[in-house]
Amino acid sequence: MMADRRAGVEQKDGPRELRVKPIKNGTVIDHIAGGQALNVLKILGISGTTDATVSVVMNVESGKLGKKDIVKVEDRELLEDEVNKIALIAPAASINIIRDYKVVEKHTVDLPDEIVGVVRCQNPNCISNTSEPIKSRMLVKAKNPVLLRCIFCEQPLTDRIAEYLI
Ligand SMILES: Nc1ncnc2c1ncn2[C@@H]1O[C@H](COP(=O)(O)OP(=O)(O)OP(=O)(O)O)[C@@H](O)[C@H]1O
Ligand SMILES: [Mg+2]
Ligand SMILES: [Zn+2]
Repeated sequence: MMADRRAGVEQKDGPRELRVKPIKNGTVIDHIAGGQALNVLKILGISGTTDATVSVVMNVESGKLGKKDIVKVEDRELLEDEVNKIALIAPAASINIIRDYKVVEKHTVDLPDEIVGVVRCQNPNCISNTSEPIKSRMLVKAKNPVLLRCIFCEQPLTDRIAEYLI
């Protein structure tokens, strides 16, 4: 392949400078643990048939996390319950609200001490799985890594939490 070596021309668009285009308005979910971006998309209801403009970056180097994922969604600001679900699978995530190309708000995600009706108990015999009007209730015992414990049967939940989201 021929490189552009014209004298005086800066090679701004070379492969090493490739960047995702900045977004004008929307949300950047940064510092997602490597490998969790697709679960974040699932929480946001973004599937292959979406109309939304979304960029996903997976497994880039991060000082804090080793490898991280980033999700950028245009023209959307997240709801509180969406942010709480993201906290379950990406406890170090930061939510950056972009307006007119600038970060105007930055939040770190946080979990409440108890989450109700969000995650199904792993125990198939748990009353929250067998008795219709009883909603799941999980105590948040640790936030990073996340450790949940069912209030009814004390079953812990820590791995593959995305699979148990209601
Ligand atoms: N207009 C934009 N379009 C797309 N992504 C953006 C835009 N502005 C900022 N970002 C991204 O949002 C994230 C937060 O931006 P910020 O400028 O606060 O970076 P930072 O100083 O590295 O933040 P942090 O301390 O949280 O790591 C970064 O991943 C950045 O690349
Ligand atoms: Mg950064
Ligand atoms: Zn239970």
